[in-house]
Amino acid sequence: MTEKLIVFDTTLRDGEQSPGASMTQEEKVRIALQLEKLGVDIIEAGFAAASPGDFSAIEAVSRKVTKSTVCSLARAVRNDIDRAGNAIKHAKSGRIHTFIATSPIHMVNKLRMTPDQVLERAVEAVKWALEFTDDVEFSAEDAVRSEIPFLIEVFNAVIQAGAKTINVPDTVGYSIPFQWGDRIKQLIEKVPNSKNVIWSTHCHNDLGMAVANSLAAVLNGARQVECTINGLGERAGNASLEEIVMTIKTRQDVFNLSSSINTEFIVPTSKLVSTITGYAVQPNKAIVGANAFAHESGIHQDGVLKHRETYEIMKAEDVGWGANKISLGKLSGRNAFKSRLDALGIQLDTDDLVNAAFDKFKLLADKKSEIFDEDIHALISDEYSSAMKESFKLIALKATCEINKNPHSSIVINCNGENKSETSEGSGLVDATFKAIEKIVQSDAELLLFSVNNITSGTDAQGEVTVRLTKGGRIVNGQGSDTDIVIASAKAYINAVNKITSKLERAHPQV
Ligand code: KIV
Ligand code: ZN
Repeated sequence: MTEKLIVFDTTLRDGEQSPGASMTQEEKVRIALQLEKLGVDIIEAGFAAASPGDFSAIEAVSRKVTKSTVCSLARAVRNDIDRAGNAIKHAKSGRIHTFIATSPIHMVNKLRMTPDQVLERAVEAVKWALEFTDDVEFSAEDAVRSEIPFLIEVFNAVIQAGAKTINVPDTVGYSIPFQWGDRIKQLIEKVPNSKNVIWSTHCHNDLGMAVANSLAAVLNGARQVECTINGLGERAGNASLEEIVMTIKTRQDVFNLSSSINTEFIVPTSKLVSTITGYAVQPNKAIVGANAFAHESGIHQDGVLKHRETYEIMKAEDVGWGANKISLGKLSGRNAFKSRLDALGIQLDTDDLVNAAFDKFKLLADKKSEIFDEDIHALISDEYSSAMKESFKLIALKATCEINKNPHSSIVINCNGENKSETSEGSGLVDATFKAIEKIVQSDAELLLFSVNNITSGTDAQGEVTVRLTKGGRIVNGQGSDTDIVIASAKAYINAVNKITSKLERAHPQV
């Protein structure tokens, strides 16, 4: 019997700390149901004390997910733990993940607490959390820069208080694999009763070593890894789930561990997270990048055709490449559409939303003969963003270009109930359209990123556009999809403007 590696996914919490990646409740539920299908053991659905929106998203995930454990993060303060405990109340299996920083630099400058106070608070936090669930995880934030004797003291105390999982984070992505492995080994050897708990690791990618450090921890006794889809996360991100899982699976000779991940759902999950967050996956990203299984050189192509294993260590189908299925077409009716939504775990709250989504599906099916699951996900994201209470809505757009003439765009936007029109020229159709929109909305935001991806292949594929805007220190991502990329771009820009002009503020767990 091989031992099991527990996969703890934090895409919905640490992943959401990526600039502009914040997700709506509906989006979080959709990703959570996909993570459940993927087979992750624990879904960290958010940080309940961050805002009422975060609280209700965790609550909604707790009600919908039945197989995976649902977890909320909580600082080691009473209010956070109460919020977390109440948010996971309806989960079939719920966990509270509480943390406090243990490094001198954090204790002195951020917490302004002495080591004794930190120790006492850590124990109190675990005891408070146990009032809600017996599944309590404790993390020593910035463990990488904490002194080992102090870590041993804190971990010993929280284990005695009842913590079941001990997480050792490299919060700032500073470690290198042999040191990280050695740190985990020392802790497991020296903390009394360490055999009674699961040791976990949570590594950031600031030096590009999050996956390598996580795997070093596993080789030295960690049996839970905290990771995210596509490596999303604070700053340079977290360890990527797909890379860890496929390394364990491909290199059984080294790890001899199993996981409960259904690897054929890796690529669809990666695509869903990228569609929803607007974080495109780089083409050469391991496992889920578009080129991960593409062979360019003639010698490689020849080798693979003769015998696949000459250049391939994994099968593309095993991670879900080529799994996108034509799910619906022009002739599909409302019932077929609704059952496809159910199969994809998409639960639209009202009949009006289903009807509106079905109308959009029909329009799309007129333009595109084959509708894939990815198209449906994009369509639903679009449908939800246009159903949100938004100050600005796209009403009409006409964009024209001609050789040797300046591209020109005229647009009509509904601004809080009143239609306004503007026109503009630009260096291209998208530029002209953004300038025309800006004349109406006057957001004064700075454009940080404009990216276009095709959702499926073919020239009739939907273009999925992400626009990242910043203003006054806030960063937001707007998304839009359409078979016409100028329209998709306009939708994405307006979506971002709606977000940046709304007053939504959330607390950050680590501040
Ligand atoms: O990076 C970190 O230390 C964290 C903790 C809250 C686990 O995200
Ligand atoms: Zn983190």
